[in-house]
Amino acid sequence: MKVLVTGGAGFIGSNIVKLLHQRSYEVIVFDNLSSGYKENLDECSNIKLVVGDIRDNEKLNFATKDCRIVFHLAANVGNVRSLQNPIEDSEINILGTLNVLESARLNGVKKIVYSSSAAIFGEPQYQPIDEKHPEEPDSPYGVSKLSGEKHCLCYSRIYNINVVCLRYFNVYGINQRYDTYGNVIPIFATLLLQNRPITIYGDGEQTRDFVNVKDVATANIMAAEKEGLSGKFNIGSGVSITIKSLVLMMRDIINKDVNVNYAPHRKGEIRHSCSDISLAKKYINYNPLTGTYNGLVEYIEWLKGGLGK
Ligand SMILES: NC(=O)c1ccc[n+]([C@@H]2O[C@H](COP(=O)([O-])OP(=O)(O)OC[C@H]3O[C@@H](n4cnc5c(N)ncnc54)[C@H](O)[C@@H]3O)[C@@H](O)[C@H]2O)c1
Repeated sequence: MKVLVTGGAGFIGSNIVKLLHQRSYEVIVFDNLSSGYKENLDECSNIKLVVGDIRDNEKLNFATKDCRIVFHLAANVGNVRSLQNPIEDSEINILGTLNVLESARLNGVKKIVYSSSAAIFGEPQYQPIDEKHPEEPDSPYGVSKLSGEKHCLCYSRIYNINVVCLRYFNVYGINQRYDTYGNVIPIFATLLLQNRPITIYGDGEQTRDFVNVKDVATANIMAAEKEGLSGKFNIGSGVSITIKSLVLMMRDIINKDVNVNYAPHRKGEIRHSCSDISLAKKYINYNPLTGTYNGLVEYIEWLKGGLGK
């Protein structure tokens, strides 16, 4: 079966492509390589990479021909980037998503799996966060991802396409590189391996729900393969840990002293985040199996191999 993965050269996309390749799907990756890497696809021999932008609807239409499923991950990712350039964020995440939906509709695609984000919730009003939690994003990125979701679910209601929106919490794992827009695990792990100090913003008691990319990739495949399913589902680990305990775990794994600096809390950063994943468990048999410690051991090994450069 032929499938399209937008953003398939990126961190999460490439992990989905790997699974699809193992399951003998015919995979087309559509990616402009703005934050993705061709090397992420090295393990997958016969996939086709189309270098293109989701804002280019002609190229996208052509790439979507004969595809039955679209995994849509291409995006301007992260709150910080969106604050720096909110217009581009909307062009890619809102209009680009509409282009993906339109080319899916015109080409008779049966299923779309949209990568959404817990950023759509904004400051949590209660924990754990379920799918009924109010959606009050407090960054242009959160707004654009929410708008993408709304468009997706609208298409599933008015056209004959099933659409599943997966709201990821903090994803980490293989193929996630250190970048200045900052996910905490690659930043801390990279600095610790280089014997450099790390900075914790605030008191370190803030919590996050870290979910391994392998579990996220599996959730995508299960959502795609579940006949007739549409809707929105939280994808996290279902447990949260403090940033302080994350650092202690990493210190243990890397087995080096850690030099920690504390800086004032950063405006706009939420205090606590923990997902309620019961709906995904019920409807897509989602069952995150990777414990944080084991996931970190594997990730740090990958970084040590120089692959995170
Ligand atoms: N990493 C996380 O913790 C996290 C959390 C919540 C949601 N998400 C969502 O998951 C998806 C993948 O994120 P990621 O962490 O793998 O980031 P990533 O930056 O590694 O992946 C994004 C991919 O999209 C490509 N891309 C960007 N703009 C494009 C465009 N205009 N046209 C074509 N390709 C384009 C990039 O080159 C990259 O390969 C995104 O939709 C993101 O919003 C990620």
